[in-house]
Amino acid sequence: MLKKVTLSLGAAALALMFASPVLAAGTAPVPPMGWNPWNAFGTGVTEERILAVADTLKKSGLADAGYRYVNMDDGWWLKRRADGRIVVRTSIFPSAATPDGNTSLRPFTDHLHAMGLKAGLYTDIGRNACSQAWGGKTAANLPEGSTAEREIGSYGHQAQDMKLIFGEWRFDYIKVDACGPADFQPAKAFVKDGTYRALGPWIVRGKPNARDNARIENLYASLDAAIAAVRPRRDYVFSICSWGEAGVQAWGYKRGNLWRTSEDINAHWKSMLDNFDSAAGHPETVGPGHWNDPDMLEIGNGDFDADHLTEARAHMSMWAVIAAPLLLGSDVTKWPQSLIDIAGNREVIAIDQDPAGHPGKIVSRAGDTEVVAKPLADGSRAVALINRGSGAVTASVTLKQLGFDGAVTVRDVWAHSDATPVYDGITVSLAAHETKLLRVGKTQ
Ligand code: GAL
Repeated sequence: MLKKVTLSLGAAALALMFASPVLAAGTAPVPPMGWNPWNAFGTGVTEERILAVADTLKKSGLADAGYRYVNMDDGWWLKRRADGRIVVRTSIFPSAATPDGNTSLRPFTDHLHAMGLKAGLYTDIGRNACSQAWGGKTAANLPEGSTAEREIGSYGHQAQDMKLIFGEWRFDYIKVDACGPADFQPAKAFVKDGTYRALGPWIVRGKPNARDNARIENLYASLDAAIAAVRPRRDYVFSICSWGEAGVQAWGYKRGNLWRTSEDINAHWKSMLDNFDSAAGHPETVGPGHWNDPDMLEIGNGDFDADHLTEARAHMSMWAVIAAPLLLGSDVTKWPQSLIDIAGNREVIAIDQDPAGHPGKIVSRAGDTEVVAKPLADGSRAVALINRGSGAVTASVTLKQLGFDGAVTVRDVWAHSDATPVYDGITVSLAAHETKLLRVGKTQ
């Protein structure tokens, strides 16, 4: 009898475990979409530039297409005051100046909210930011003052900072970097000379065995708990930026809504492919609320600018087919219509934002060609046929490989072509760096 009770309790507990969503982090039922200034402006960001981007998102239709989070990155802070409150750099954020000298980003978030947009901010789980480790002494907008005043990261101030950012300032999104515990080790010259205090290192870049993954996970978990204490409805997005380090693939889905899977992207074809691979190879924990983040889009920059529309479409297709967050990283105020049409392609966005939230999975890879497929809520499949190389190729996939057992119709979501019936397999010709993104569904 006793054994039976234990068994059925065990089954009930198990059923509960699998039925209930993981209660952690904020709310992101579909991959977040928006804009981040880092790839375009680095720390040389200003309120004026961000609001110009926000205007463009509205006027171009990109906001209506889904790009609603307007996020800040590194560079917004001036210092941490003796009472712990962060002071905003009002020379770049004039609306943050207050008569009592407290500084507030509330006018900024109010402005974005009044436009129907959402607002995101940036911090670090350590004491210091990435720009302080990597920007040398000359990067724009480095925090100022004494060593303590320049400690603008959340370490030791989690509750106070999250109350300010999510309570008083009403932000909707936070990206949390990890340079603090990675790049301020005692041996660093800027630590030895007293510019910054030592922390860790608890992440040792490139040395997996020297990492303190549990400590990093706990820092993210406690920061998320500090936000939830202010916003118990969890109406925020929590973005983990530990660049695929600290074993984040094993715990990111429990602690955040998205987690970076790699080093920073740059506007080169190879970097885009590397970042794509870092996420495409790990579909395991992707699902509603929890997304691999291969980093911001480079559409509009370098190899993906208005002279490289094939590459821009490929980049967009690849992020969409693996349900990656779509965070534009370019100065969209300068975009021609051709780029707006690419980032704003509603059929492509619908694949990324599909409500079932399935990850894309690699179906095959041979030479420069790769096929990735993502099941969609209506029973169809998004299929990306990718040419990673710089020569023309032919790529094929059978309907069986896609999991279909009868005829299907195929629609090219870039060409907006009519759906064509197909009976055995799909073969396409791909120009250098071209990706075809198809919506494949059972014939009615
Ligand atoms: C990096 C991060 C970038 C950007 C930068 C700011 O660690 O991956 O996306 O936020 O810091 O300094």
